[in-house]
Amino acid sequence: MAVKFYKSENQVPLEMHKVRMVQKLNLLPVDERLKKMQEAGNNTFLLQNRDVFLDMLTDSGVNAMSDLQFAAMMRADDAYAGCETFNRVKDAIKEVFGCDNVLPAHQGRACENILAEAFCGQGKVALMNFHFTTAKAHFTRVGSTVEELIDPAGLIPKSNNPFKGNFNLENLAERIDQIGRDNVAFVRVESGTNLIGGQPVSLENMLAVTDICHDKGVISVLDASLLQDNIYFMKTREARCKYMDVKEIYHLLADHFDIIYFSARKLSFSKGGIICSKDPKYTRQLQVYIPLYEGFLTYGGIDVRTMEAMAQGLYESLDMDYISQGPMFIETLARELDEYGVPVILPAGGLGCHLNAGAFVPDMPHNQYPAAAVGTALYIISGIRGMERGTVSEQREPDGTERYAELELQRLACPRRVFTLSQIKYVADRVKWLWDNRQYIGGLQWTEEPEVLRFFFGRMKEIGNWQERLVEKFKEDFGDSL
Ligand code: F0G
Repeated sequence: MAVKFYKSENQVPLEMHKVRMVQKLNLLPVDERLKKMQEAGNNTFLLQNRDVFLDMLTDSGVNAMSDLQFAAMMRADDAYAGCETFNRVKDAIKEVFGCDNVLPAHQGRACENILAEAFCGQGKVALMNFHFTTAKAHFTRVGSTVEELIDPAGLIPKSNNPFKGNFNLENLAERIDQIGRDNVAFVRVESGTNLIGGQPVSLENMLAVTDICHDKGVISVLDASLLQDNIYFMKTREARCKYMDVKEIYHLLADHFDIIYFSARKLSFSKGGIICSKDPKYTRQLQVYIPLYEGFLTYGGIDVRTMEAMAQGLYESLDMDYISQGPMFIETLARELDEYGVPVILPAGGLGCHLNAGAFVPDMPHNQYPAAAVGTALYIISGIRGMERGTVSEQREPDGTERYAELELQRLACPRRVFTLSQIKYVADRVKWLWDNRQYIGGLQWTEEPEVLRFFFGRMKEIGNWQERLVEKFKEDFGDSL
């Protein structure tokens, strides 16, 4: 921790930035929140932001931009080809990753689509520590299967393991041999792992994965969307990284992975997506898809002003003052909840604080969607919007049976540089109240279930009138408080 407080009990993560632009928030009365949630089909994605107090749905595309990012946007060059803005993005990628070969795409999943087109297909297996929803949807769409090789320690909700995103290395080597290198589309490392609590992967583990890939002759791909949080955890949890410069870590990774891609909605506090590589062989192979799906090679569907913000944001992703703020706030929230007895994923990861909904409502069966149910309850009693990261976020098996998630999580994302500590305190307070009143939380059932990415637009109904009873209890305890 950079700044030590005089009184240890006063110690909090101290923001090394100040707020110079604000957005008014709105907190509806509890009866209206109940109505809005039911109108939204008990799906937090279908709520309107005007009805949300603290939007903890995602950390994607909602990070606060800096003064320097806004300033950079003014000098955007919108020439269709050969524009200076793209050169500045390339310079930033060169600085952060040391890569010369850069392809723009409109966001992270567009990069996944391009990887799917180039490397996936019938009979091809994409190996990864853990899947992400859009990655899996793209790779399986073209006929590939996805296999997860997470170290089993990663699925234990509460432990002291600092790197719960690590690959099971033994299984990786073995699976490549069993599948045969020609049938492996690639090995994808997601750092950190979105669906299991933003848990990081150690540098040692990542380098071991790439060694295995080189040894076996398969392509290694790094999904770096959450890498800035992951690098903070490497610096603070992994002995060999303590004295390494942040940039040194980015560069070392780029030296070892064949292909890196990321959602700039996360890494770089902006929007858009990037695929880069040290080896032009890969970008040459991938670039044919950019004009087809994205746009010309110098903008890839991203607005030029946004590309300027991305370039500046990439430099900021090297700054420990900035990259530590998200993880430290998440840690503060997770620790406070854990001390109260609320089941949260520990150690705290990046991206957000993850409530372990499976343990929050342990008697609720998976097919009543505990993670989604906890999320609807939390919105109703607080105006806080989280995101279901449990069974609803899974896809049914091809035969239509439900695929129950390994972990039923309700994710409370902490967009970077956005919330103040008093808002985080409010979150902790309301979650504690919900924990103490968890017996009021009931299940949900589908009323409209889309086949693909159902968590985005599916609609559900509460089973019985538990939400009304929850509201009654809230009023009893809080009187006329919002
Ligand atoms: N990879 C990871 C690890 C992600 O977390 C995401 C997005 C993507 C790829 C796709 O990027 O949104 O730019 O297309 N995660 C968001 C979230 C959607 O809320 O967790 P994208």
